[in-house]
Amino acid sequence: MHNGTFSCRGCSSPQGRGILSLGDMPLANALLTAEDLDRSAEEKRYPLDLFFCEACCLVQIGEAVPPEELFTDYAYFSSQSSTMVTHAERLVEQLVHERQLGSGNLALEVASNDGYLLQHYVRRGVPVLGIDPAANVVALAEEKGVQTICDFFGDRVSKELVETGRKADVLHANNVLAHVPNLDEVVRSIARVLSTSSVAIIETPYVVEMIEKLEFDTIYHEHVFYYSLSAFARILRRNGLEAVDVERIPMHGGSLRVFAQRIATGGVHERVRGLLEEEERLGVCRFDYYADFARRVTDVQVDIRQTVEGLRAQGKRVAAYGAAAKGSILLNSIGLGRESIDFVVDSTPYKQGRYMPGVHIPIVPPEHLVQEMPDFTLILAWNFAGEIVAKEEDYRRRGGRFIVPIPNLTVLSGDPSLA
Ligand code: TYD
Repeated sequence: MHNGTFSCRGCSSPQGRGILSLGDMPLANALLTAEDLDRSAEEKRYPLDLFFCEACCLVQIGEAVPPEELFTDYAYFSSQSSTMVTHAERLVEQLVHERQLGSGNLALEVASNDGYLLQHYVRRGVPVLGIDPAANVVALAEEKGVQTICDFFGDRVSKELVETGRKADVLHANNVLAHVPNLDEVVRSIARVLSTSSVAIIETPYVVEMIEKLEFDTIYHEHVFYYSLSAFARILRRNGLEAVDVERIPMHGGSLRVFAQRIATGGVHERVRGLLEEEERLGVCRFDYYADFARRVTDVQVDIRQTVEGLRAQGKRVAAYGAAAKGSILLNSIGLGRESIDFVVDSTPYKQGRYMPGVHIPIVPPEHLVQEMPDFTLILAWNFAGEIVAKEEDYRRRGGRFIVPIPNLTVLSGDPSLA
């Protein structure tokens, strides 16, 4: 476990307790090209240790990799999943209707990726502005008519927005607050660009789901923080915001959607108190809640490994589905490499032709699945298992079988008419 001294990235307390160590892992999205493989001795690995801060109960990893190493050429394209695009569209529809948004308003998104969300405001005539540091995804957003500033969102950009009269009526920050080591700067920058009648809608994976469903593979260097509402409410408050409503949503294995406003500018829904009380009952602000996570993770890792190796021993061919960041962590932490998994299919053109970090399994287009007909396919993007299984009906009809590793290792029947 992590040698250096702990200093909480939220409150600076030195009182951290180790929850789990996944060892030295490669960067989960650092896919390799064929030329990189020849230089694989240089592939960087960093310790991946999860800590609990006893002072502010924020769960976090022990070592942050500089954001410039992670987010300037980004392999994650939100529009690759129709679940994600539809999810965004429903939310936009609801907000436009409830808040009567129109041409005189501004919808802003922090980490707007390829415009998967803001495009829905554009179609409804609401002006938008995205901010994202990755030039390759920004180019795709611009093609969709989503005006985007290619930069990291923080004090500098937020001050510029305010100085040029661009305050947000609605601000989205989806799956980004887990990624920003300079957390307080980003949250205070969100507060800065909101007026007293604005709302920020923040979605982030929920630590309770990760712990209870053993989603250990969602721990990677890009994910610095793993939030409970209890921890998150404190961070909002010290930056001038408060949670006025909260929902639990199924996205990414279970997330929180927090509605935040400037303090005392809106009524607080009783759902906020309800969830805080539930967390109190669970004990998410006490280390005991996390104490047996490492042991339970080891059990699930052994189960996945034995299942795949058992199939190989019977002469079965095994492939994987979804070159997700969580897939890198799952394969590397369990030690499943090319000897066990023939290839990984993924629909993202950027990823095809590249190789999974660390284990160097080739990534190929989804058509490969039916062409090659591996006997079993391990769904690494298990958060989209429903969408993937529905799409690959043909593979199942021909006898291919999917394995969903998380939350419980499940081998789906080969017959698509069955579960
Ligand atoms: P995801 O689980 O969203 O993310 P993370 O990288 O944060 O772990 O990644 C899903 C991957 O699966 C992404 O590379 C796109 C791919 N994918 C497909 O190839 N086909 C599909 O039908 C879906 C839904 C995803």
